[in-house]
Amino acid sequence: MLIAGNWKMNKTASEAAEYCAALEGRVAGLTGLDLAVFPPFTSLSAAVRTLADTEVAVGAQNVHWETEGAFTGEVSAAMLRELGVYAAIVGHSERRQHFGETDETVARRASAALEAGLFVIACVGELEQEREAGETENVLRRQVSVLAEDDRLVVAYEPVWAIGTGKTATPEQARDAHAFVKSLLDVPVLYGGSVTPGNAAELLGQEGVDGALVGGASLDLESFVSICEAGAAAA
Ligand code: PGA
Repeated sequence: MLIAGNWKMNKTASEAAEYCAALEGRVAGLTGLDLAVFPPFTSLSAAVRTLADTEVAVGAQNVHWETEGAFTGEVSAAMLRELGVYAAIVGHSERRQHFGETDETVARRASAALEAGLFVIACVGELEQEREAGETENVLRRQVSVLAEDDRLVVAYEPVWAIGTGKTATPEQARDAHAFVKSLLDVPVLYGGSVTPGNAAELLGQEGVDGALVGGASLDLESFVSICEAGAAAA
């Protein structure tokens, strides 16, 4: 069971250090869980330093496929590794929606990160109109088919209509989508999209739900801790 907090563009380095210092003590006793936080690039170093020698891993929210070069605004896997970063998210729907990320660039980012030794959370998920049109499985097939199985690869199923909206997939919708993703690729699958302390236990209790990628509710320490507790109980 993996509980991952995607902070998006939130928390400066000092805010990250303060949060991580408090988080460590609150989750130390939880068993059966892998825990990770994904601060913005500028807060990675503070998070890595604060969480050194703890069970909580630190990951980045994106990573480039080249090792270096003329790619303004991008960060390579080697740069992350040297900081002590352990994982990267690729293909988040906000990157697909606002920054031109495609299945092809997501695949390139994932394979470069894996090759460099990072763990990868690759995000997939359908838009609301795609679900309404009965296209969910086709979309998932297209997004997953560019990824190659790897021991360090995790997929996050995040229905786009559920991200930051307060709408969640029903437990049945999550179960079906997770089973479908797993039929294509034999990797752990996280659920993401408006996971809160109120719905975490039910979602994490579904067959095929191997953890959660938590956005908004991970920013508040108390709510993230209670989602972690729900994860430990479901593990
Ligand atoms: P949310 O975001 O929990 O705020 O819906 C999840 C995500 O985008 O990973």
